[in-house]
Amino acid sequence: MTLRRATADDLGAIMALERASFPSDAWSEAMMAEEIASPHGWYIVDEQAGALVGYAGLRAVRGAKDADVQTITIAESARGRGRGRALLRALMAEASDRGVHDVFLEVRDDNPVAQALYVSEGFQEIGRRPRYYQPDDVDAVVMKADLRGWVAARHPESSASAADAARAQGGVCS
Ligand SMILES: CC(C)(COP(=O)(O)OP(=O)(O)OC[C@H]1O[C@@H](n2cnc3c(N)ncnc32)[C@H](O)[C@@H]1OP(=O)(O)O)[C@@H](O)C(=O)NCCC(=O)NCCS
Repeated sequence: MTLRRATADDLGAIMALERASFPSDAWSEAMMAEEIASPHGWYIVDEQAGALVGYAGLRAVRGAKDADVQTITIAESARGRGRGRALLRALMAEASDRGVHDVFLEVRDDNPVAQALYVSEGFQEIGRRPRYYQPDDVDAVVMKADLRGWVAARHPESSASAADAARAQGGVCS
């Protein structure tokens, strides 16, 4: 597992995975390109033998206390082996480095796998956005994690930064 920052050159592979993973509500290529290039974003990819098998993105405006997990996806053939968790932990570590206090996300109500991942990393449901995902007419579950609690729960005795610890678990991330 190798994690690294996403670049514009990854756009084609990211969009192929985006369309395969979110058949009814994939982002447009223009939106994804904008996200990857944004100074407020932090997008990473997961590679295996040179092929892109996952990506994830954080939106964390410098100096802000809130951040959002924008997206996280692992190719179907690579799921269930800890890669999604490693991506999420890398995003949390980056948010911690940026001084964020609370991390938010939205997840489809009919996506128990992603919800289980988020709950296991300390996210809690704080509300719902009825019928948010169209055209499927599915509610969004809004979740929040206290990042200082996340750091304390996972690295209570460590003096190393949360980012260093998460990267050590998840691979190499620049
Ligand atoms: C959600 C997703 C990123 C998880 O990635 P993954 O690499 O398969 O997940 P991991 O192997 O890291 O597992 C992390 C946790 O997810 C949950 N999980 C993973 N696979 C699961 C399954 N088949 N059934 C139930 N829970 C599952 C478990 O809580 C698991 O923790 P555990 O291994 O300690 O039990 C991946 O399933 C995916 O890309 N799904 C499609 C896109 C998507 O829904 N993205 C989220 C949008 S909000």
